[in-house]
Amino acid sequence: MKDKAILEYEGKKYEFPVVEGTEQELAIDIKTLRSSTGMITLDPGYKNTGSCESAITYLDGEKGILRYRGYRIEELAEKADFLEVAYLLIFGELPNKEELNQFHEDIRQESHVDEEMKKILDAFPKSAHPMGVLSSLTSALIAFNPSSVNISSEKEMYHAIIRIMAKFPVLVAWTMRKQKGLPLDYGDDSLGYVENLHKMMFKRPNKDYVKNKIVIDALDQLLILHADHEQNCSTSTVRITGSSHAGLFVSLSAGISALWGPLHGGANQAVLEMLEAIEADGGDTQKYMNKAKDKEDPFRLMGFGHRVYKNFDPRAKIIKKAADEVLGDLGIDDPILSIAKGLEKVALEDPYFVERKLYPNVDFYSGIIYRALGIPTEMFTVMFAMGRLPGWIAQWREMRLRGEPIGRPRQVYIGENERPFVPLKKR
Ligand code: CMC
Repeated sequence: MKDKAILEYEGKKYEFPVVEGTEQELAIDIKTLRSSTGMITLDPGYKNTGSCESAITYLDGEKGILRYRGYRIEELAEKADFLEVAYLLIFGELPNKEELNQFHEDIRQESHVDEEMKKILDAFPKSAHPMGVLSSLTSALIAFNPSSVNISSEKEMYHAIIRIMAKFPVLVAWTMRKQKGLPLDYGDDSLGYVENLHKMMFKRPNKDYVKNKIVIDALDQLLILHADHEQNCSTSTVRITGSSHAGLFVSLSAGISALWGPLHGGANQAVLEMLEAIEADGGDTQKYMNKAKDKEDPFRLMGFGHRVYKNFDPRAKIIKKAADEVLGDLGIDDPILSIAKGLEKVALEDPYFVERKLYPNVDFYSGIIYRALGIPTEMFTVMFAMGRLPGWIAQWREMRLRGEPIGRPRQVYIGENERPFVPLKKR
């Protein structure tokens, strides 16, 4: 039993239990704070607020540790495939061969998307950002599938998860094919999950699809590295949307919208655009470093900094190594990679970045690999969403199974006090 935390205010003492996680993280349980003291906490951006207890992902930002269900990300990225990791995140244990085959087979059975969905996609202009299209299509899926899931039925829960795991890659591929003016395709169920995704994205109508192991392995690894990251902005959005008992698909659609922002998943697109701009500007990295440090300039070094990691993002380390390998294996010499490395070197030695503990994050090098794989820049965040899908599902499932209450933060009101209404002609 841990000590209690004591709050003293106006001569009165209030006691609150201290909760300890399995990794010895401590939290003050303030569930009774308002009822006992009449006060609330104020924590914009939730920098100090634990919104839930969760058994899915552990990360230690000071030590640069990331584990899914207890397994180190480095080991999973090297030894597992994306579907295994998805199963692990969602159901809590690595699947055995039989369970994995069954999971994949169930997904295959659901891998069609209603033809009517094509009409919805058709209505978007070609110039629409794929993230907006993906969010809309995910939400539109509800029209063809039950909107809410009876969470007391394990079978219904499982079926909802299978349906979205099966249909989401089709939607991802369609958003890209729409932009590229390519005919829509439903893929090939005889292929592996990631290979099928790749085929659905890249198959040309007049050419046979040729598998490239280097490409599939790189994609698989990127999806694993993005698969979960505990209570980040989009995951919290999924949980809070689902906490109103809104269905799985609509909760995911809300998460996709949250991911789109350049401070979150949208950073991978922003990084590449930034690196391209530096290259077009003659490769002067110092100029952009100075801009990033200038408080009068809104420019930030995209792909740097993290709310939780105050040390190297372990995902960035893996991706940096993978970028070198994948570009080498594919025989690509991309000047953008040298600019990224140069920028990283300067930043890691610059007192501004050192003092603020700003290190490259997962998005800094991922875009360089996506680009080498032939994925258009506007699709980068969609690929992040594809990777994050199992994490979002796992978090939504956990939240519902734990019977968490509706998410509804409070506020400190700082507006006008009550005042009399002024009629229009007197204003
Ligand atoms: N470039 C320049 N300065 C920065 C940067 C950056 N990329 N990131 C943080 N800072 C500064 C910030 O100005 C502040 O300085 P000061 O203390 O003088 O006011 C200090 O560092 C702390 O930053 P913060 O904004 O208070 O930290 P935060 O935890 O609220 O923000 C972040 C985290 C990721 C939003 C931020 O670091 C950022 O905007 N990075 C660039 C966008 C990016 O790469 N996002 C991807 C995040 S990882 C993947 C994901 O979540 O999807």
